[in-house]
Amino acid sequence: MIEISTDINKAKKILENNELVAIPTETVYGLAGNIYSETAIKKIFETKKRPFYNPLIVHIHNKKLIDEIAINIPEKARILADAFWPGSLTLLLEKNNKIPDIVTAGRNSVAVRVPNHPLTLELLKALNFPLAAPSANPFGSISPTKAQHVADYFSNDIAMVLEGGNCENGIESTIIGFKNDQPIIYRLGSISIEEIEVLVGPLKVKNHSEKLPESPGMLSRHYAPKTKTILVEDIEKELSLHANKRIGVIVFKTIIDKTNINYTEILSEKGDIKEAMSNLYAAMHRLDKLKLDLIIAQKFPEEGLGKSINDRLERATKE
Ligand code: TXA
Ligand code: MG
Repeated sequence: MIEISTDINKAKKILENNELVAIPTETVYGLAGNIYSETAIKKIFETKKRPFYNPLIVHIHNKKLIDEIAINIPEKARILADAFWPGSLTLLLEKNNKIPDIVTAGRNSVAVRVPNHPLTLELLKALNFPLAAPSANPFGSISPTKAQHVADYFSNDIAMVLEGGNCENGIESTIIGFKNDQPIIYRLGSISIEEIEVLVGPLKVKNHSEKLPESPGMLSRHYAPKTKTILVEDIEKELSLHANKRIGVIVFKTIIDKTNINYTEILSEKGDIKEAMSNLYAAMHRLDKLKLDLIIAQKFPEEGLGKSINDRLERATKE
């Protein structure tokens, strides 16, 4: 049975034993293992049922460790690491030979970040290896933002979730890579494009799904509830089309007429986009448990973090 606990020493021992621990970060919970242990890394892929072609993010506790993970680091990558680490930015860099191929799925590049959660930073400091950690959910399903979400998914598969409370940002990190030293966004996330552009100039966005995406995790269906989900601009109009169905609704601030709705998730009463982002996945988890006929989500304003939220909602609607 899985244990939910704040015991860092226990987490450390489990990880040193080539086993997995789910760790809190400021984005989502991760399913962590020693990057240098093939046994542990294989367990990550098996537990998540994640295909081996989809590489993992390496988590370190201090940006100075970046040179042990990557080589030929572009100047703009260092600027971004200085500005955002610890925090929700993942850098795709040329990999150091020390990084095992299984972590990067045989790629020449490695994804790396310093997460911003006090317990996980303390754990990483206590360990003498970095942690590979994808989000702690089965491949394709909604990412966990509470320890209990992880326990619901993996109660028989892993020994421990390090209890770190609700994830503050609530969606995954923003992933940035470089071509000829020019930054490219491969995954929208909890740091907005605008915040990054202030520091390094205009960005290319390659967040869209392709047959063989450069960031292979960007398959179109992802972060998806089991319940059929649609994303619309006009929630009132959509509701009028679905009489006699059991419906759950996800909205940003508020809605006018609730007569037709069984369950409403208002992500931020006061209209704060960061608060809405932080509540998004927990709302999806709750609605998905209710065995509704349909979830209708309201599109967010296409600016700043609204773009990242819309990205996750769009992926949740793909068949
Ligand atoms: O916020 C986050 O980034 C969370 C927390 C736990 O840190 N982690 C996370 O990991 O979202 P995961 O595995 O669910 O998503 C990582 C994404 C995947 O889309 C993967 O394909 C991409 O990063 N990725 C990892 N290494 C890569 C590489 N070497 N080249 C291209 N894409 C890579
Ligand atoms: Mg994931």
